[in-house]
Amino acid sequence: MTVSEVKYGLAGVLADDTAISKVMPEINSLTYRGYKVQDLASACRFEEVAYLIWNGELPNQAQLDVFNAAEKKERGLSANALKLIAMLNRHAHPMDTLRTAVSFIGQEDPSANESSREDLYAKSIRMFALIPEIVAADFRLRNGKDPIAPTKDLAFSENFFHMCFGEAPKPEVVKCFDISMTLYAEHSFNASTFTARTIASSLSDIYSAVTGAIGSLKGPLHGGANEAVMHMLKEVPSADAAEKWMRDALATKKKVMGFGHRVYRSGDSRVPTMTEAYKKMVDVIGTDDAKKYWEISRKLDDVMVREKGIYPNLDFPAGPAYYLMGFEIPMFTPIFVISRITGWTAHVMEQLSANKLVRPLSNYTGVAQRDVPSIARR
Ligand code: COA
Repeated sequence: MTVSEVKYGLAGVLADDTAISKVMPEINSLTYRGYKVQDLASACRFEEVAYLIWNGELPNQAQLDVFNAAEKKERGLSANALKLIAMLNRHAHPMDTLRTAVSFIGQEDPSANESSREDLYAKSIRMFALIPEIVAADFRLRNGKDPIAPTKDLAFSENFFHMCFGEAPKPEVVKCFDISMTLYAEHSFNASTFTARTIASSLSDIYSAVTGAIGSLKGPLHGGANEAVMHMLKEVPSADAAEKWMRDALATKKKVMGFGHRVYRSGDSRVPTMTEAYKKMVDVIGTDDAKKYWEISRKLDDVMVREKGIYPNLDFPAGPAYYLMGFEIPMFTPIFVISRITGWTAHVMEQLSANKLVRPLSNYTGVAQRDVPSIARR
């Protein structure tokens, strides 16, 4: 085997095959199982997209009914899991709570280590059903309120709003959330997905793979960026001040969150769909705050593209959209997990269907081999 030059950050490295999604930066497109993500977002509910990601084809009505029934059957955390979430440090980031709770529900599953395709699929649906409840319960407990139990009467996205706020909002708001779920669901070998595949490659269990992926997604250069975007929008006093704010940020070489992407260099294909859903929601909500954040974000986008040719990524419209839905900023990355659990677990299944232990080489730059001196000579 010849050892080539180091690829820092694995940039440009093809690490494995995948049939789940394809990122095509040259034509600004992202497909899940061959379908354009923006077409899926407008034509399908998130449950259909989840089914597609896991099974390779969109469901017909009968298949969707079976799938929805399986997800609803898994709703409802155990009393111990709820007790654990209530016990955790309220000052910790909700991603830390979520990471701990997912690890906990893994150890509750007596067949956690089973890895047939059927077992992995069942465990994926279990996490898909329980993760929204963990996020919602944590949100309510942080605000001094009791968790609200899930209801089987509501679809996936509506049920999440119900568990957070006790009711589902206007359809445009639910639609915007559902679209964000579809857009965040899968994105090939990003850091957290590659983490999940790496953990699975040692034949560890699927809950461990997801727990590790949550840790990876937490970082501000990955999932944490949607939170950072909202903090930034709150820092800019008005749309009129946005141009100066951005120029100052660029002059001081500040990394502006929600812009740039390792793979997309001329725009993130998910952004127009999310921005349109966000705008519809702003119009329906109609508050001064909603209009202000919309105008600031438009201005920042214009200046960044004009001055640096760096385009917004999905986190840029998703951050303020989640804020206007009533979610607290630290919940944004956990909400990303509610969606990305589909992609991560599909990748674990794919990894295990043709597994090869992930074990790259390193370019050693330390001192050359030497003898251990006696203690007197050190
Ligand atoms: N704000 C300001 N400048 C940026 C920038 C941003 N968000 N993203 C990239 N740049 C600039 C870099 O400063 C660098 O400029 P230089 O050549 O003058 O040094 C150039 O663009 C290349 O950036 P680089 O950091 O090498 O790109 P990358 O592929 O390693 O990084 C990200 C990609 C996503 C890590 C990076 O764009 C970033 O940190 N973005 C903000 C965080 C974010 O939104 N993450 C979510 C990703 S989906």
